Amino acid sequence: MTTLTSRLERARERLAGHGQDHVLHHAASLDPVRLDHLLDQVDALSLEQVDALAAALDDDGGFVLPADLAPATIVRRSPLDAQWTAHGEALVRAGKVACFMVAGGQGTRLGWDAPKGTFPATPITQAPLFQVFAEQILAARQRFGAMIRWYIMTSPMNDAPTREFFASHDHFGLGADTVMFFPQGTLPSLTLDGKLLLAETDEIAVNPDGHGGSLRALRHSGALDDMRAHGIEHISYFQVDNPLVHAVDPRFVGVHAAHPDSSGEMTSKMVAKRDAAEKVGVFCTSGGRTMVVEYSDLPAALAAERDGSGRLRFDAGSIAIHMLSREFVERLTAHGLALPLHKARKKVPFVNDDGVRVEPTSPNAIKMETFVFDAIPMARASLVLETDRAEEFAPIKNADGDDSPATSIAAQSARAARWLEAAGWAIPRSAEGAPDCTIELSPLAASCEAACARLAARAIERGARLAITPG
Ligand code: UTP
Repeated sequence: MTTLTSRLERARERLAGHGQDHVLHHAASLDPVRLDHLLDQVDALSLEQVDALAAALDDDGGFVLPADLAPATIVRRSPLDAQWTAHGEALVRAGKVACFMVAGGQGTRLGWDAPKGTFPATPITQAPLFQVFAEQILAARQRFGAMIRWYIMTSPMNDAPTREFFASHDHFGLGADTVMFFPQGTLPSLTLDGKLLLAETDEIAVNPDGHGGSLRALRHSGALDDMRAHGIEHISYFQVDNPLVHAVDPRFVGVHAAHPDSSGEMTSKMVAKRDAAEKVGVFCTSGGRTMVVEYSDLPAALAAERDGSGRLRFDAGSIAIHMLSREFVERLTAHGLALPLHKARKKVPFVNDDGVRVEPTSPNAIKMETFVFDAIPMARASLVLETDRAEEFAPIKNADGDDSPATSIAAQSARAARWLEAAGWAIPRSAEGAPDCTIELSPLAASCEAACARLAARAIERGARLAITPG
């Protein structure tokens, strides 16, 4: 008890020196175990960092539009693609490519009370997102005859339920020792005037440090060492919310690793923006470096500019799919990595001085996060590869409306219809041309259009009729 009492006094002194001793408001009423828990968090807190975060609350984000801002150079689809695909395929077959999924977000917009990857996401069998990616990886392992390891970043809040979900599904047949989970770091959430908040009487409110935290987490977790030990050179990065992603894409791997204009450090995919006002970050270039400019930072006039062919000049929308080389992440994180902080006003539940939990009805706090795309300008030369939205991007972000389960399911079904049709199946279509049926194609059956054609060829060989009934 004496130790706890003296620890408490030391903590109070430290916190008071930074105007944050209110986090000990309930200390006197905590039992020793809970007090110990709270003091552990205080001890782990860098109050200098909290001061810096609080000081940053008032600045406007500091983004200055570079005078030389121009659209990024885009690698468009071309007949040269075959050589990139062949190169990428060779790297996958040689076991040099791993998948890396970031799944540490809080998914507040979707409002699903479990890790987002457990969300039932497919059109008919309602397979969870985790299963969709697992089946893609299994399919790629079979197709390329190679081990493809899977690294999954969680957060301290969803790490245990994520591991439990995988364990209860026998890791979807991947083999537990080929999937590595690790939690990302956190940052304290601060009130609008820079004070720490209590999530519980013995718990300081923190939030995951953004998908940008994935780079440091790769190092601190030992994942980079694990990759090196397994001969992995390239990392295929994707998000937990996009079931259309091609988790292992040889063309993308090839452009990243072998294109003469690529440094092989970080390469990204883009889709053409739907219109000038679409709220997505845009790939640009400045000072010879590629960068993503957030939609809120791109002046409307620039966003609306068109080139001679009528295409939006700044049309390269970011879809959060990247290739990174292991060596690039090792270099970036060798001496700590300070990515810019992005701030968002959020409703963060807290415990007040009376010990009562408050669910705010308007934003009461600032969450700070780092974004992985801020690493792109740190690459020596970073390419952006064009792809089709309908082929690769249908995220589940919101409970309804845009980017919701309904829009993602429609996109998954429509893509399956296109692939099957291209392979010779008859797809019933409505008068307007939309598929008049719901289709779910497991990645284990076909994970790309070419695989679908192979599936059809095998079926026809066996005398199958290719037909799908409406409904
Ligand atoms: P989002 O930006 O959509 O955030 O994450 P979110 O936290 O999942 O959802 P909202 O904003 O609370 O509704 C995009 C991707 O980045 C991951 C998410 O899991 C998702 O795959 N992410 C985000 C992390 O891994 N860590 C973070 O701290 C934030």
